[in-house]
Amino acid sequence: MNRSRATKKIGFVVVMILFGVALFSTRYYLVDLPVYHFFGGGEGPDPPALHLRGEFVESNLGAAEGPSGALTVRMIAQQFVFVPQCVEVPAGVPVTFRMTSADVVHMLSFLGTDYGLKVVPGAVTEATFTFSKPGTFKIPCHEFCGAGHYAMRGQLNVVPQDQFAGMLPGERRACELR
Ligand code: CUA
Repeated sequence: MNRSRATKKIGFVVVMILFGVALFSTRYYLVDLPVYHFFGGGEGPDPPALHLRGEFVESNLGAAEGPSGALTVRMIAQQFVFVPQCVEVPAGVPVTFRMTSADVVHMLSFLGTDYGLKVVPGAVTEATFTFSKPGTFKIPCHEFCGAGHYAMRGQLNVVPQDQFAGMLPGERRACELR
């Protein structure tokens, strides 16, 4: 009698530990940044220093052509905005998004398309999408990221290729929000 009770108790503790480990392994990124960084090994961009140095300084944000002519859009997600708030890209060409977070996990979609991205602090999320036609796409955040989550949205303007070619780098990341 006593024995089976003890076994049950141990079983319960083991299950609780496994449950805790499973939960932690999917949610570890919600842990405070210093701890996250400790585990992250410091290979990705440094969330508090994004605006100061590296790939995600302001002058590097928005759409830019690489040496091969391939188009890359760099954006930061942070509580509770996307930086830049509005970006312009050309229609009908592959656009590679490179994004990181300055704080917690954010999830975005381009409303009206199947495209979406998960953005994590300390890492760069990269994905290539082609927007076939010109249009305006709202970019809402889908991961609860704090008090301002429901107001967190950016915008993507897909414009004809010739119009995009005539834009200066600054104009490509400073469009009007609609
Ligand atoms: Cu960012 Cu919700």
